[in-house]
Amino acid sequence: MLTEFVCVIAVFILICFTGLTLYLAAIHRKFDHLPGPPRQSFYFGNFTAYQAAVKKGNPSKLLLQWAEEYGPCYRLYIIHIGFVIAISPTIIKEVLTKSIYTKPILMYKNFQSVFGARCFGTGLFSETNYEKWHKRRSIVGAAFNKKYLKGYMDQFNDLADILLNTLTSVADGQSLVSMREYLTRIALDAIADIGFDNRLDAISGGSDSVYAAVMRCIFDGIACQAENMFNTVRPSKAAYRQEVRDAVKVMRDKGHHLISERKELMRTGSCELNDLLSHIIKYQEMTPGVTDEDLVDDYLTLFIAGQDTTANALSFLFLEVGRHPEVLARMVKEVDEILQGRSYVTFDDLGRLEYMSQVIKETLRLYAPGTMTGREIKADLNIDGFDIPANTCMLFPTYVIHHYKEHYENADDFQPDRFESTQPKHLFTYLPFAMGPRSCVGKQFALIESKVLLCKFLQRFTFDLDPNQSFDLDEKIILRPASGVMMSLSLRT
Ligand code: HEM
Repeated sequence: MLTEFVCVIAVFILICFTGLTLYLAAIHRKFDHLPGPPRQSFYFGNFTAYQAAVKKGNPSKLLLQWAEEYGPCYRLYIIHIGFVIAISPTIIKEVLTKSIYTKPILMYKNFQSVFGARCFGTGLFSETNYEKWHKRRSIVGAAFNKKYLKGYMDQFNDLADILLNTLTSVADGQSLVSMREYLTRIALDAIADIGFDNRLDAISGGSDSVYAAVMRCIFDGIACQAENMFNTVRPSKAAYRQEVRDAVKVMRDKGHHLISERKELMRTGSCELNDLLSHIIKYQEMTPGVTDEDLVDDYLTLFIAGQDTTANALSFLFLEVGRHPEVLARMVKEVDEILQGRSYVTFDDLGRLEYMSQVIKETLRLYAPGTMTGREIKADLNIDGFDIPANTCMLFPTYVIHHYKEHYENADDFQPDRFESTQPKHLFTYLPFAMGPRSCVGKQFALIESKVLLCKFLQRFTFDLDPNQSFDLDEKIILRPASGVMMSLSLRT
């Protein structure tokens, strides 16, 4: 009896193993005509090399190394999945600017739910169905129209003043402070206050500043789930998975609370706000069948997408400007000339800060916080000399596109002048906010916030980076500086 049982199990394992082998052979046949790094093993493909880079915190650097070696379109095997990595401008133009290429569920399911907990759900960022997404974007995205953004200028200015006052108390020319920490907190206050009329006061370490840690936990959880499918079942990670689910719950509960509170105010006619929250609720009013859970998807999406990206972009800017005093001096000069000592930054000032725009653009080229976008190729596509088979998940890694030597001269150098208006444009090789229909809805929000903060900071402070400051990267979905951007601040005389 026992022998029969063992035989049945053995036959079952053999059948599964043969099935897997045949399946992998078919996947390899599908993609092997494309260039790409050799598989380290038949069963794991390039997974081991990629995992090692993930552990070091810089998978994009490995993808770049492969691009330099195998060209602007190559294939990669992560166990049983073949991906196509594209950095060719011709492919970027074709695929990212057309709505027929939708976001692949294979990639975005990692954002929809994390370790079994609904996270971004089918919100604006992770909805993969084009029609549903389009309706959502046209309603929720309207919150980012220029007329509303202009109306937020008082709040952007007020928040920047709060940051300045907080920093003034530590600006003794000696004490080292973590600029990244302050920027994370102020970006949190900005999205909560301006987007959702929810004053967190994270900057002064108010009790709600716990959200910074909660959001970090969610991002790390998404990265952990996406990097290695075994992390979803590994017993040693059970406690960690629960921690991530708890963090998601904190954010979703907050979203439910804010939404029901706002609905009540709207019902009684005592709320005339036109912020992100009111647009999220408008989507429900205009679309039958939309539940409060769907609205929370968008709350979470905008809250998280709007905070960590901006904070890290600004952190990188301080790092680079800190080691390029000539760039800092030009920025200060421009701010002084345009503001003429005024402390209030107007919407019109922002458009005149040309050099600052160049510095922000160059920072976002070198260190785009959003590391990757993806699209599904549903039918065979012959493009730029490559045959992409139907049903392929194509990945567009921003870091690689921005650091590829054929796209930029001295690609690793920080040179804001490459974005001077007289210089050739980098069409289809510059996409820190992605491009096409699924490009970042919050781009202008982020740029306004960044410029107002920078203007006011440069008017009041000078700074020196800690001589031991590291420039290492930490890449977990979002690209961050690996350490805290430590600096000493002094008041300008
Ligand atoms: C420097 C700051 C920012 C950067 C670099 C950035 C970058 C990006 C990128 C690359 C994407 C495309 C991601 C993908 O295709 O997977 C994206 C999408 C998105 N971003 Fe941003 N973002 C920033 C700030 C913001 C802000 C401030 C908000 C909201 C307040 C925001 C909300 C969104 C949303 C909702 C999407 C999804 C859009 C859609 O698919 O319709 N982002 N962002």
